[in-house]
Amino acid sequence: MNLTIFRNYDALSAFTADEMIRLLQTKPDAVICMASGSTPKDCCRYFVQKVLSEKIDISQFFFVGLDEWVGLPPALPGSCHYDFKTRLFDPLKMPPTQYHLFNGMATDLQSECKKMDSVITEKGGIDLMIVGIGMNGHIGFNEPGVDFNLLSHVIDLDETTITVGLKKYFTEPVTLKKGITLGLGTLMAAKKVILMASGLTKANVIQQAVEGPITNTFPASIIQQHPEGKIWVDEDAASKVVKK
Ligand code: F6R
Repeated sequence: MNLTIFRNYDALSAFTADEMIRLLQTKPDAVICMASGSTPKDCCRYFVQKVLSEKIDISQFFFVGLDEWVGLPPALPGSCHYDFKTRLFDPLKMPPTQYHLFNGMATDLQSECKKMDSVITEKGGIDLMIVGIGMNGHIGFNEPGVDFNLLSHVIDLDETTITVGLKKYFTEPVTLKKGITLGLGTLMAAKKVILMASGLTKANVIQQAVEGPITNTFPASIIQQHPEGKIWVDEDAASKVVKK
């Protein structure tokens, strides 16, 4: 695992978008998995800008969504589906054959998990996973206490995730109880993982992810064990890391 500190959110976002482009230029059929939420927003914007302005061929690229809120319709602003559609699929005109997302409305969520795992296997595994970190140290919806070996699964959301989620992502009343997510077993099997974070609010969790013990009570600590696990943050998010 290694830590890279960028001047600010903009530099972090532009560099991460370039990393996606570099991968697609060397492996056009790469599988990239990404979180939704605030952190990867500008990375998506830079990625779209560059793909369009430099006419990069992304016709073989395959995208996997990291997670979804259970019970929320895909068209609802705040859902992960909505983020991916508005940030990537629509601007890049990506057909549904080029991506796979969890359906949080599925009646059989277990088979939804199995479907996700088999899609990833059929595609040859994830080349690059770009994730964020929650205020409780979650990655995706791998909440504190999660089994590190799990693949896709459904999980009861932690109180912190519900409180932050309601405040940050939704403008209309929603009920958040469960999440469906790729597991940390999937993350460990990905060829490369980049954990992005920006801002002072993430300083404590980044210090813990980088310097704390590896424990499932703080799921993001698992990144220390990944041979290609990178933590890319801006100066504010790195401000509490002791050994820079
Ligand atoms: C969202 C996801 C979450 C977020 C995390 C940080 O798809 O997987 O784990 O990455 O909660 O969220 P932001 O980036 O909004 O601070």
